[in-house]
Amino acid sequence: MKNFNLLWNYMNNNKIKYLLSIIATGLAVAFSLTIPLILQVVIDYILVGKEVEGNIFVERLFGFLGGSSYLIDNLWICGILIILITVVQGVFLYYKGKLSAEASEDVAKNLREKLYDHIQHLDYAYHKNADTGDLIQRSTSDVETIRRFLSVQMVEVGRAIFMVGISLYVMLNLNVQLTMIAMVTTPFIFIFSFIYFKIIQKSFKISDESEAELSTVIQENLNGVRVVKAFGREKFEIEKFKEKNLQYKKKTYKVIMNLAYYWSISDFMTITQIALVVVASIYYTNLGVITLGTAVVFINYIFRIIWPIKQLGRILADLGKALVSSERIQEILDEEREEEKSGEIKPEIKGSIEFKNVSFEYPDDETHKVLKNVSFNVDKGETVAIVGKTGSGKSSLVHLLPRLYDIKKGEIVIDGHNINTIEKKWLRKNVGIVLQEPFLYSTTIQKNISFQNENNPKDIYEAARIASVHHVVKEFDQGYDTLIGEKGVTLSGGQKQRIAIARTIINNYPILIFDDSLSAVDTETDIAIRKALRERKKDVTTFIISHRISSIYDADKIIVLEKGQIKEMGKHDDLINKEGIYKRIYDIQNVKEYEIEVEGREKNGI
Ligand SMILES: Nc1ncnc2c1ncn2[C@@H]1O[C@H](COP(=O)(O)OP(=O)(O)OP(=O)(O)O)[C@@H](O)[C@H]1O
Ligand SMILES: [Mg+2]
Repeated sequence: MKNFNLLWNYMNNNKIKYLLSIIATGLAVAFSLTIPLILQVVIDYILVGKEVEGNIFVERLFGFLGGSSYLIDNLWICGILIILITVVQGVFLYYKGKLSAEASEDVAKNLREKLYDHIQHLDYAYHKNADTGDLIQRSTSDVETIRRFLSVQMVEVGRAIFMVGISLYVMLNLNVQLTMIAMVTTPFIFIFSFIYFKIIQKSFKISDESEAELSTVIQENLNGVRVVKAFGREKFEIEKFKEKNLQYKKKTYKVIMNLAYYWSISDFMTITQIALVVVASIYYTNLGVITLGTAVVFINYIFRIIWPIKQLGRILADLGKALVSSERIQEILDEEREEEKSGEIKPEIKGSIEFKNVSFEYPDDETHKVLKNVSFNVDKGETVAIVGKTGSGKSSLVHLLPRLYDIKKGEIVIDGHNINTIEKKWLRKNVGIVLQEPFLYSTTIQKNISFQNENNPKDIYEAARIASVHHVVKEFDQGYDTLIGEKGVTLSGGQKQRIAIARTIINNYPILIFDDSLSAVDTETDIAIRKALRERKKDVTTFIISHRISSIYDADKIIVLEKGQIKEMGKHDDLINKEGIYKRIYDIQNVKEYEIEVEGREKNGI
């Protein structure tokens, strides 16, 4: 029932349109059902000259037009009437289609927009763990299932109900016994369709899943084709694909076979019902119980109603799919939006930061303590370096600053304000982060850099210059208008990193975070970037995560993390005098690197 409510709510302000569409369907059905009645009048009243049974309305109409003798001479009137009725029926069918299509497209459009908007506002943690393929499927296929149900199937239910209702009324007026015979197998046909489609829904589902598996294999293969090539795994990949492809074929074949059984059995039942009506009508006509015209009406009606009845069973069985889809969509819409967990204040942020006993674990793995009792202070404008083994919690620590994740234990204070009280959007306007795995869009370099705001070219060049990428871009034929990605140039890892840096620093944040953002550039470029940053603005609080001692040795504070705990903290000179982790890393990254660094520094005049 809850799911019915969901469907009902999705219809939103289109309910009137749906109602009108169903009314138009009813009228079209009503008009189409008058044609056999005109034939009845033509046969009984005009040709045979008898009274017309149970058909007072049409008889009156013809009486008004001048009675049987007049109509015999002017039979064309009946022809015209049939044409007119068909035209009117066509007009109603047109409106039925138009209204239901308009309403359903609108529902689908609104639903897609609502979903997209909601997905945009879900938090970082949600997206980090979400299965993108599944999200895409819910925003497209599931919406499409609902659209189809509302636009085609729901109106079809209306048609079946009108068709059976009006036919039954007319037939009962004509002859009760024959009506019983005409209806004797219809409940079975309906129930058979319903049960059959309920049962084979499973095989539909299996085939859909098999198709999804096949596309996952293709998608993964294309994404990882470089790895496949590098490891010479083509044969294995082809075999894997062949197997999934074969499974898909088998499962689809099963669905088709199931459908073939259905059509043959249900056609058999239908034909039996039609034969029953034809034989009974002729028998009754012979006995003189009904007229020939009435027999024509019955035979005509049974042909018209049997198909919607079969469809009705199928649609009701299919209804389950639309309900499941609406539930899947609602699951996303029920996820809490980020603003709901946001703070309110928008203080001026200068950049002094304090971590007080911060402990943290990811929501999906609460037993794994990623950070334990982390405490440190940073003054405005200081540079803090974070080092530690992979997995020691460096990225997790800096993700807490722009509140990509929220902490449950401890406190993070920026300029005297607990960050949980600061509005998230505001915080993110003040804390710039270059993520460890930056993502660039398949658009121009210019648009990638001026991504958050519409920046002027001067600022873009300036940011690119600081990120040491301006000279690279200048060499491209189309400069900053060069497209990146599928349709454009392929950038090297270091070039990508530098564009990601330019994209962040262009915004003049008082707090900047570089999460391993210089790992793919050479030491000299690394030095040049850091120098340019320092010269540009003196009082930016900067976090640098790096595995390279030469990138961090001159920081105001170096934090050494191990298994989520601060093991050492201080300046380079203090730390290398202690026999600790930092000293060990320093020794391993031998003196040579350090020499290059000093050389570089001299060259850059630091
Ligand atoms: N989204 C996540 N959900 C659950 N656990 C996570 C998530 N991200 C990281 N972790 C876990 O948290 C721990 C710390 O990861 P983190 O990414 O902070 O390490 P790191 O120090 O940045 O490592 P690296 O130097 O490799 O970047 C790891 O054990 C990791 O498995
Ligand atoms: Mg990391």
